[in-house]
Amino acid sequence: MRMKDRVALVTGAGGPMGMAVAKRFAEEGASLVITDISATRLAEGERAVAEAAGSAGKVVALRTNAMVRGEVEELVAAGREKFGSIQILANIVGGYQGQHYDGPADLVHMTEARWDATMQLNLKPGFHLVQLLAPAMLENGYGKILNISSVNFAGEAGSADYGAAKAGVASLTRSLAMELAPHVNVNAIAPGIIRTRVLAMLGPENAEVYRERSLLKRLGEPTDIANTALFLCSDEGGYITGEILPVSGGIWPAL
Ligand SMILES: NC(=O)c1ccc[n+]([C@@H]2O[C@H](COP(=O)([O-])OP(=O)(O)OC[C@H]3O[C@@H](n4cnc5c(N)ncnc54)[C@H](O)[C@@H]3O)[C@@H](O)[C@H]2O)c1
Repeated sequence: MRMKDRVALVTGAGGPMGMAVAKRFAEEGASLVITDISATRLAEGERAVAEAAGSAGKVVALRTNAMVRGEVEELVAAGREKFGSIQILANIVGGYQGQHYDGPADLVHMTEARWDATMQLNLKPGFHLVQLLAPAMLENGYGKILNISSVNFAGEAGSADYGAAKAGVASLTRSLAMELAPHVNVNAIAPGIIRTRVLAMLGPENAEVYRERSLLKRLGEPTDIANTALFLCSDEGGYITGEILPVSGGIWPAL
């Protein structure tokens, strides 16, 4: 049991990636505080995590918009009331926002609303959660923080807003690793294309382009991210901090 007696907070736990991470942590003994903006998806996540943990008593689920301070404060308070301290944060929430222009120079056609929404979704939850959780991690001399960037943080035409936001996540990860050292490990995973709702957005032709671009000739599964998250957030990854680890089937070196 690599997470026995640990408590982990996972955002976006109603989506395939967040749910896979929360389940993996639960299988390894962690108690879970999970959230999602969708009550339906969160209920699904709660069932899956309780099953993986072998007990409904090991999960607290609260619907929140993780961009809203007051809602995240309630989530952290609920987790602490049930389990005491929270030692692990896996902040999975993020993604694309708004309509993408079907042609060259997407940025030139981008609305300010889309730009702002992308920055908010990818950066705001982490800001709130780190402010709420890191002080106790520092006080207790133990903590793990995992962010989700993207291989797109290096830049990609058609999603400059998302690339910039994910570069922000990468930068924040490194800054926090320095600020919270030596007792709190802060890392990020940079996924390639993972089988989640993003596939429906991409469409089969684009998905095939990414599959072909990968060195391993397959798309990623949520469990690929979950296994890496487990490694980075358990003591096995204890000598790793400030890293942005691509989990991309080799899309990253092929870029
Ligand atoms: N899927 C991919 O191929 C891929 C690739 C690179 C990076 N990523 C990143 O991985 C993370 C997860 O992506 P995904 O594809 O699993 O996304 P997803 O949309 O399938 O799941 C995200 C979950 O977060 C929830 N959510 C959205 N906004 C929220 C909010 N404000 N507050 C609380 N919950 C909210 C959604 O309801 C959803 O259940 C994101 O950060 C994304 O940018 C994904």
